[in-house]
Amino acid sequence: MKLEGRVALVTGAGRGIGRAISLAMAWEGADIVVNDINGQAAESVAGEVRALGRQSLAVVADVTNGAQVKEMVQQTIVKFGKLDVLVNNAGYFGAAWFMDTSEEDWDRLIDLNLKAVLICCKAALGEMIPRGAGRIVNISSDAGRVGTGAQGAYSAAKGGVITFTKTLAREMARYRINVNTVAPGVVDTDLTQAIGASNPRLVEGMAKGIPWRRLARPEDIAGAVVFLATDDADSEVRVVVTAFNDLGPGSAASRSAHVYPVGNVVALANLAWRCNTTVNLDLVKVALWTRPADAVTFGNGCTGRIGRIEVDTWTYDALKTVNASANAAHDLVVESGYAACHDRLPANHQDGWQSMGGARITVRNFVWACGDMLDPFAEGVAQAVVIARAGAGVTIPTDTVVEHSVLMPGAAHTFAIGESIRSGIRDSVVCPDRTGSTPFVDLGGAVDPIYEAIEEAPESDPRCTSFEAALAWTQS
Ligand SMILES: NC(=O)c1ccc[n+]([C@@H]2O[C@H](COP(=O)([O-])OP(=O)(O)OC[C@H]3O[C@@H](n4cnc5c(N)ncnc54)[C@H](O)[C@@H]3O)[C@@H](O)[C@H]2O)c1
Repeated sequence: MKLEGRVALVTGAGRGIGRAISLAMAWEGADIVVNDINGQAAESVAGEVRALGRQSLAVVADVTNGAQVKEMVQQTIVKFGKLDVLVNNAGYFGAAWFMDTSEEDWDRLIDLNLKAVLICCKAALGEMIPRGAGRIVNISSDAGRVGTGAQGAYSAAKGGVITFTKTLAREMARYRINVNTVAPGVVDTDLTQAIGASNPRLVEGMAKGIPWRRLARPEDIAGAVVFLATDDADSEVRVVVTAFNDLGPGSAASRSAHVYPVGNVVALANLAWRCNTTVNLDLVKVALWTRPADAVTFGNGCTGRIGRIEVDTWTYDALKTVNASANAAHDLVVESGYAACHDRLPANHQDGWQSMGGARITVRNFVWACGDMLDPFAEGVAQAVVIARAGAGVTIPTDTVVEHSVLMPGAAHTFAIGESIRSGIRDSVVCPDRTGSTPFVDLGGAVDPIYEAIEEAPESDPRCTSFEAALAWTQS
């Protein structure tokens, strides 16, 4: 059990996502403070937690009220002696066009969805900072990343939660307190059902936009939150991360985090703010349908190994399999895997690796496949595979090595290599670009490219006949 001996406080936990988070954390061994403004609902969930063999305290408090929140944290300390995890989950949204909303509506939405997060963080950190330990997970929303129609003030508040979380994570790192956001898409809860009751076509439309044709379940979100509350989300990570932005097959892995629309795979996002972090991931699985995102983002000074990355994307716009985003030293080895973009939209593109400088990335036993290599109807992509593209103006030398891999571009540049990059490609094969529309290699301002044993294969090359054949060869 990953949270044995920990004490977690979950706000708005009387039902929906908060209830699922409370039960999932109790299942992992945590004692739970169940907060809600509705006392009966809080008591009921506290009873469910106890039925799992954990201790629980139901606390009725309005999280928009600073005095009540302070009192709630005090009650937690009196009962359990400490507070390890805070999950800011309480929230509310409705559906109304911006011009039909009033200042009172905005105040209510911003108070609960944004200000309450600040209030609860401040109260909890007063206990966490002196101990030099703690974890905070703030529940934002996809609305806070991309904006959602008929949810103007809500989107603004949830966007504020994301940037507040990033700021707090920077400030709290010195106390070894990590702070993360999870940004769900549409989740099937009482709240969504209530909105659906008055706007049936709205919820129906949201479900239709999801290839899996169903909304996320509260448990899908709880998995991600539990992960971020455990030590696995800290410096040494050994876990299977499964991130679905529209839910898809294979989402049942026992130690997986299911993340409904994401910007970056959420489990690694906090690494982007940390220095000297070692990552050791056995398997990263990402399936993305509707939103652009990076599968893995590494920030300052991260080093590590990923046993396998499996990325499937049907999204339009960019997805980077690995984005080493900051201008600092990285050292990352990926042992195996694939990135497959199943696009039919001509404007799509998927970048393999993007390194903004200073990163040394070694990739082995990998297949990149885009467009018509996967689907005869696919139109291909722009910039199918970009390996180690330095950002504009970035001049820090970067080393990228690709070994025993197959590159199956749908179109566009097979390699686009920017400035000051040393790139070694060994024992690898490049399958024909069947669209023939774009250059094979766009070297940009590359310095010292080394192409060793790189082969432009004919269409008849067995490794190029199918995605499966390419995978089999890389695993040989
Ligand atoms: N349901 C979705 O589709 C969805 C999508 C993205 C993000 N979210 C976010 O997830 C969180 C939970 O959503 P949900 O769908 O489970 O909501 P829900 O309405 O089902 O549950 C929210 C709980 O919070 C409690 N609450 C409301 N105001 C409170 C207050 N002032 N103090 C304490 N408790 C309060 C409610 O009584 C309720 O039990 C919210 O922050 C929401 O914005 C939900």
